[in-house]
Formats: sequence, structure tokens, C-alpha cells
Amino acid sequence: NVLVGTVRSALGWVPAQWLPGGTPDPLIGRRGEVGRQAARLDGDAKVQGQARFAAEVPLDNLCYAALVHSTITRGRITRLDTARAEAADGVLLVVSHHNMPRVSGPSLIAITDPTAVGNSSLPILQDDQVHYNGQVVAAVVAETQEQADHAASLIAIDYAAEPAETRFEEAKSGARIIPSLLIERNHLSLGKAERELARAAHAVDNVYRTPWQNHNAIELHALTVAWEGEKLTVHDTTQMIASEAATLAKLFGLKREDVRVLSPFVGGGFGGKGFWDHQVVAVAAARMVGRPLRLQLSRESVYRIVGGRSATEQRVAIGADQEGRFTALIHNGYSVMPPYGACPEAYTLGTRSAYRAKSFEILQRHIDMAVVPNTFMRAPGEAIGTFALESAVDELAHELAIDPIELRLRNLPDKHPITGAPFSQHAPAKSWADGAARFGWDRRSATPGARREGEWRIGMGCGSGSFPYIRMPGAAVRLTIRRDGGATLACSAQEMGMGTSTVLAQQVADRLGIPLDAVVIETGDSDLPPAPMAGGSGQSVSIAGALLAASEKLPGELLPLAGNDSPLAGLRPGEIRLGQEGMASAADPSRHESFRSILTRANLDEVSVTATGTPPLEMMKFAMHSTAAMFCELRVSDVTGEIRVDRLLGSFDCGTILNPRTAASQFRGGMIMGLGLALTEETLLDERSGRIMNPTLADYHIPAHLDVPDIEVMWTGIPDPRSPLGARGIGEIGITGVAAAVANAVFNATGKRVRDLPITLDKLL
Ligand code: MOS
Repeated sequence: NVLVGTVRSALGWVPAQWLPGGTPDPLIGRRGEVGRQAARLDGDAKVQGQARFAAEVPLDNLCYAALVHSTITRGRITRLDTARAEAADGVLLVVSHHNMPRVSGPSLIAITDPTAVGNSSLPILQDDQVHYNGQVVAAVVAETQEQADHAASLIAIDYAAEPAETRFEEAKSGARIIPSLLIERNHLSLGKAERELARAAHAVDNVYRTPWQNHNAIELHALTVAWEGEKLTVHDTTQMIASEAATLAKLFGLKREDVRVLSPFVGGGFGGKGFWDHQVVAVAAARMVGRPLRLQLSRESVYRIVGGRSATEQRVAIGADQEGRFTALIHNGYSVMPPYGACPEAYTLGTRSAYRAKSFEILQRHIDMAVVPNTFMRAPGEAIGTFALESAVDELAHELAIDPIELRLRNLPDKHPITGAPFSQHAPAKSWADGAARFGWDRRSATPGARREGEWRIGMGCGSGSFPYIRMPGAAVRLTIRRDGGATLACSAQEMGMGTSTVLAQQVADRLGIPLDAVVIETGDSDLPPAPMAGGSGQSVSIAGALLAASEKLPGELLPLAGNDSPLAGLRPGEIRLGQEGMASAADPSRHESFRSILTRANLDEVSVTATGTPPLEMMKFAMHSTAAMFCELRVSDVTGEIRVDRLLGSFDCGTILNPRTAASQFRGGMIMGLGLALTEETLLDERSGRIMNPTLADYHIPAHLDVPDIEVMWTGIPDPRSPLGARGIGEIGITGVAAAVANAVFNATGKRVRDLPITLDKLL
């Protein structure tokens, strides 16, 4: 979603004949390592405690930093007294706007500019201005973390506070419509939807609310910084290695090749591990103190300076004829995006491709509040947008007395409902049929409150999920063929535990016809060819496209080395097929020579090719969307209102599944996050002060083991003929549709329709 709009506007409309390879990827449908349950390459190191994270890198003479946060929302610092902090044991430096070097704020995230990575464009410790409650106003560097933390508490600050907008309801009056920003257009009309709604035989028209949410990766944001003259090395935990290196070079006036960002492992990302104030503060402070420095944010600091999901208010209205066919589909509302933020929280994106309707009216309004800028959080937009849309579909099904799955099937589109583009591959009906059969949907009673066991009322619900296919431009890899018969694939990919390096190894094995254990994957280093950011569920397919390009380039490198004594002599690169640990004539497979043999004869240890994936033109021509059918069974206590989720099932249509083991884990992880969205997660913003009141995992509730039921996942596995390997991304779709399935099950159990998340027990009593 983030990319489609940018790429489309950058390239304009592209004629069909320009599309990459009218022929699909030859690996689609081939049996090999891809599709097998390979164990994660990073698994052993992690369970043995060998994987080294950013805050664990041992450096000599290391010092430690802690942040100080504003306690007011907007205004000016009138006094910042550091004397007591500077006199405290072990303190080496206090950084504030008084002594911070002049550094411009980073440019806001833009996919077309790799040096634009900022989640906030505000200046960092450059002046006395405060823009939101929790903003960094100082940092302390000391010999130990404890000394830094203590000294940070000794800094005395006076403020001149100014009025600030901190109330969602009041800020709505200043809402603005941004024509297009990172995403597709914010306002789309097709036909006269309000008029169709008014004269529809059946209609629902309601407002849904979703709360502020914060990122809670297990691993805190952290970096270990080392300067060596004008060379900078940063061990960070980041979803954007290559662009962070480019940004740091730009901000600190360094040559790009003198900046190295290392991030071999990321302990959870979900969109929050991007570029925030702390990287700039740590890099500047390390230079000032002249020593290697570590800044690991406290959990509270993560809440204060790393944004999460914006609160939203969404109206969904659906008009339908007697048979339940949609005549009007209206989705509009409000989310927050301060002018210094980059994330438009595009909750209507999923609605645009989900259903056919005679008319559409889609509008996103953005409001400005004095808060830490929100950012991308697993399926930004779709996670919360599908809650509103899929609750509304359930409400309409109830009104029409039609089974909610049947109502969805009657309105499935056979092409993109708004653009008219053909789907590249699209089998939601199969997901619904397979999921319903497996879940036992036929045991559901259509009458709310009909099933009861003692104090528990039992209900079933369902909802659709969706996420677009995104292949990012500019992804590059270096593929090295070694004389020992193995191969190495290198790029600056981010391994956040989702299986990126594992599925890449599987692909290299299949592309070259070599054993999986002969493949080495190198990632996590900005000195390697640039991978795209790990985001938009697009990392794996983007790199898969680059690997496809590299393997197409390989014969041209190897043929001249093979020479006239090779069985391949006289063949042109276009006549070669890779496989069986070497290359062969496509026309006559008996003319084959192994990589080992070619390199031995040429007396070379290895040969490398570096290649960039083709521009993702397939996204221009085709509607490329994954879908999911989510099912939930739960019980609600009549006595306490407590909800216990008994079963969840996700039935996915996401193209080829590269590795069933890592994919199932991704889907389940997303669905657990969906449970949090449905039932527990909520950042409490004190609207009087603009301050987050629950910046701790004790008060911000994420689902714990006892909250998580058996989760079943299944998929169609039908390849997408337009993508590398037939795959579409799967990192985010798991969270989508879950909150609606839960809310709809609560309605089925109790007859109560809860339209604001999370569904806490007070809303059911
Ligand atoms: Mo994701 S929200 O693109 O990490």
C-alpha cells in the first residue's frame, strides 16, 4: 500500500507489453527446497543465546546513555539546569539543545528517496521548543547505564507551556484531506454512493473507533555506536539498514562508504524499528564524548519517542438490494497525522479491493494533534480498517438474515472494483469454503445468544482480511558461486525472525540446483548490496526478484570462463538453463557442466554477480492482493463480561507459500497481534496533558499465553503467475480481519455490538 501509490505516480501508466517477462518465473510450481519446512537458519543461534543483538555488542571503553523526556506537551524550555547531573558519579556528558551539534532533522519517509527515512521531521535537540509530551529534551552519558539513568533524573527543567491540541474530538474540526501521501489517493468516488445508500432496500451506517496503540517488540530500541575518525559504525536494531546508513551519512556530513550500519538480528520489528530521534542523539553523543557509546531505550522511552498506531474514527455504510448485492460502499473517517509525521494510517485501503459495489465513496481525513508521530504498525490501515468494514458486513448480514459468509461471496469482485484492473491471482471464495469446512461454521447458530454453557454464552464470528502485494524497487543482491560447489547470497536484508534468510537459502538452492546446506546467506550489513526496508510485507518477494535477476545474469559471467573445452562451448547465455549444480543447454540437457568444474578449469575460487530486481511493473497492471478468511469461536461470561477466545482459524490466499513452517508462524503471530487489537491493546492518552499514561507492559496489555487459544492456519497455496516464485508477502495479513471476527463472534454470543476497540469486559456489562 505504501509503495503502490508512489511507484504508480513515479512511472505513470505502463503498457502491458512493457511488463517484465510475459513468461512467469520458471521456478513457479517446481518441486524443490521452496515449499519445504526448512528450519530457520537463525534458529540455533537464537535458542543457544549465540545471536548477538545491538545492545549486546561488546566494545572496549563503552559508555552508556539515557534520555530525558519533556513533561509538557507544547511550549518552550526556559531553564535547563544540568549541574547536579554533571556532578553525579560517572557522568561524562549531558547533551541538550545548549551543546548538541547542528544536525538537520531527517527527511520524512519516502520510498523514492532512500535517504528519507524519518518518522518525524522535527529538529532533534536543536532548540528550546517542545512539540509533544515525551519529546527528547536531553541525554546523559555515563560510565554505566545505572549512572546515566540516575543522572537523567537530576536534570531540572522549567518550561513555559503553551496551549496544544491533545483531544481527538476537538481536533476533528481542523481535519485536512491530503491528496496523496505515500499511499493511493485519499479521496475516491465512483457513482453517487450517498444517494444509493439513501434509496437502498437494506442499509447499515455506523461509526467504529480504534484506539492509539504502541509498539512493544521484545527487544527494546537500541544502538551501539563507534566512531573512528570520520568513520562511523552503528550496531542498530532496524528495519531499514541501507537507508539508515545513507541518512546518517547525510545528517553527519560523512561519505556514504564511511558509514556502516550492522543489524544482523532484530528482536521484533512490526514497523516500529525505523529511524527515530534516539539514533541521532546517540551518534552525536558518541562523537562528543569521544568513546563508543550504547543507547538502549527504556520501555518507557520507547512509548515516549517511538510512535505506534493512530487512533481512528471510521464510518462504514453499506447499501444493498434485496439479494444482498452492494449498491453503495462508503468508508470514511479520521486518523491523526501531525504535520511532522509520515504515516497516514490508511484504513480504507483494504475496502477498495474487497467487494464489488455499484458505487463507492472513500475518504480519509487527517487531523493534527500534539503527539509523538504515529508510524507503521503491522498492516497499518488494513488491521483497523478491516475491523470497521467487516463488522459492517456482519451487521448487514444480520439485518438481511443472510449467512455472513454467503453475503461476502455474493459480493466478491472478479476484477478490481475501482480501477478495473485484473487480479493477478485471487481465490477468496476458496479460502472461505476451505476455512468454513475446517472450522465447522455450519454449527453456528444465526440467532445471537442461542448457545450457552453455564454462565458462558458461546458465539462464532468471521471476517475478511487483506493485504496488497508489494515488491519494492531497487532491491539488489550479490550471488557468489564458489569452487567448493556452494553459493553465497549477500544483501543488506533485515532478519527480524520471520524467516527471511531461510526462504532465501531455499530459493538459492532451487535456482542453482545445489543442496540447501551448501548455501550461505549474508544479511544485516549496509556494506552489502542494498535490500529494501523490511516493511510492507515486501522484503522476501523484493529480494526474490533480485535473486531472479542475478541468476539470469549468471550464465553470461560463467560462459566465457567455461571456454571452448566445455560441453557448453558455443552456447549463448539465453540458451542456458541453471540447475543440477551447474548449467546446461536448455535445448539439450545432456550438455551440462557443473559450477565446480567451470571454476576449477578457470582456476578461480569464486565468481560473483550483482543484480537489481526489475522495476515492479506487475503492480501497475494487475490488482495484486492477498486475502484471508478469519474465524473465531469464543465465550462471554454473563457474570463478569470476560471474553475467552477458544478457537481461531485463518484461511489464507497469498500465492505460493515458500516455507510452511515459517509461514504458519508468521500467520499465527499476526493473528495473536489481532487478538491484542480486538481485546487488550490500548494506549491511554491523557487528553488533558497529551501524555501517555500506560507506558509499560504492566499497564499496556498484550495477549499472554493464557489469552491465546489454539490457532489453526491453512492456505490455498495457488501461485501468483505475476510475482517471483508466485509468492506474495505474508508478514502483515495475519493481523487483518481478526478483530472483526472476534467482534462478530461477541455479537453472535451476546447480541451486543461493540464498535470501539478493544472489547473490554466493561463494554459487555
Ligand atoms: Mo510493517 S508495518 O511495513 O513493518
